[in-house]
Amino acid sequence: MNILFVASECAPFVKTGGLADVIGAVPKTLAEQGAKVRVMLPAYPALASVAQGGETVLSYDDLHGGPARLVAVSAEGLDLFLLDAPHLFDREGSIYLGPNGQDWHDNHLRYGALSQVAARVAIEGIGDWKPDLVNAHDWQAGLVPAYLKQHSGPTPPCVLTIHNIAFQGVFGPEVMGPLHLSGEHFNPEGFEYFGKVGFLKAGIAFADHISTVSPTYARELLMPEFGMGLEGILQARGHMLSGILNGIDLDIWNPEDDALLPATYSARSLKGKAVCKAELERRFAIAPNPDAPLFCVVSRLTSQKGLDLLLDCLPALVARGGRLAVLGSGQRDLEDGFIAAAQRYPGSVGTIIGYDEPLSHLMQAGSDAILIPSRFEPCGLTQLYGLRYGTLPVVARTGGLADTVIDANSAALAADCATGLQFAPITAAALDQAIDRACQLYGQPKIWAGMVRRAMRHPVGWDQSAEAYLALYQSLMPHRSE
Ligand code: ADP
Ligand code: GLC
Repeated sequence: MNILFVASECAPFVKTGGLADVIGAVPKTLAEQGAKVRVMLPAYPALASVAQGGETVLSYDDLHGGPARLVAVSAEGLDLFLLDAPHLFDREGSIYLGPNGQDWHDNHLRYGALSQVAARVAIEGIGDWKPDLVNAHDWQAGLVPAYLKQHSGPTPPCVLTIHNIAFQGVFGPEVMGPLHLSGEHFNPEGFEYFGKVGFLKAGIAFADHISTVSPTYARELLMPEFGMGLEGILQARGHMLSGILNGIDLDIWNPEDDALLPATYSARSLKGKAVCKAELERRFAIAPNPDAPLFCVVSRLTSQKGLDLLLDCLPALVARGGRLAVLGSGQRDLEDGFIAAAQRYPGSVGTIIGYDEPLSHLMQAGSDAILIPSRFEPCGLTQLYGLRYGTLPVVARTGGLADTVIDANSAALAADCATGLQFAPITAAALDQAIDRACQLYGQPKIWAGMVRRAMRHPVGWDQSAEAYLALYQSLMPHRSE
């Protein structure tokens, strides 16, 4: 089975969040299970050298304002189609935002072009390669199903995967002309979103199946609190909506074999974890304290992630002897809040503002617990890394966080199955209680160590979920009559 993935990010080449990790990981497991994935991505500067080694398989004299080509190339174990369109993608800085911190003014053309070329490849194939199915990811690929719908001939089935409904790609109706979108579908059942054009809305309206990244988020998406204006169309198409939990790439995230750590360790021997902790404390100028846990945060600093709630809890966390190391970047108020906290609680709170992949591994390895108080979380990957590295996740009970962490309530502790802590409602008071519970459990070393070992053994790889994707893909294939 040949699958075409269409996405805007892919680890290890270009990453702003979990989408990249997923796109970089799942094709490898699907390949082991018999499906060949090709990933179509824009040729951002980070991919320029990769594109140089590839073969041009399609050319355009003018794709929304300039020449473009599609390059086929293999790198880092992935088969890629790179859309090399310098006028759209050869820009320094953030892939989504211009130097003024606003979305690039032509994001509709950039990702419209990606979707248009992807639809062409889906329909025509490249040489003797033809996709049996397309999986479009998030709003940046949301127009793929719309372009397939507009095509008069046969097209392969298309799955839209929603990684985060907060990002919808909404533009004025004037983009319809340049993007060759048929006015016939500019209505609430099509890509119209309150008088505008919604890329994600288009995907939801025209995909043959809509998947999202956890079963709980699949249910939440149908509610107004989570659906962000798209709950109506999702309810209408609810029979074709499902949640498949994300996994993690165990080749990259493995404490037994992680070259980014000062020492490796396993569930059998945790000695190396103490070495990582000492190094983490040194990096963040945090004083050791054997009596209370070292918490960490590795996150985009945005309101989704609920970290303002954590700022409210900091005085109590520090008063309990707890320590906190924060790595993140994003909203100015949150960056300032954690910088101020580090100044206010020297030796107890350390903050590094920025994006640092190697440091994120050390944080997962060297901390005792990872705090994830998200207001909503489609899946979340950092709690999965935490489990794998024996860093117990303390999470809000929402989305994929609810699906992946087993709360240390008395029944779970008695049954030896707890792997972390959950809290609800998602308030500072409930987070504070969860932090307090974590501190109390940490004070009972046998119980804590049992949870750490159990967390490390919890299955977090892609095997099961890749099987679920494969089953979904197969269910959408046209049935052959003989
Ligand atoms: P989201 O995609 O909503 O940001 P996820 O938990 O799915 O949330 O994925 C976030 C990914 O980005 C993880 O791989 C995490 O380790 C990484 N990450 C987030 N912030 C940083 C940072 N400041 N430095 C390094 N990695 C980060
Ligand atoms: C989004 C979500 C996150 C999810 C990731 C990968 O960025 O916010 O919860 O883990 O996509 O699917």
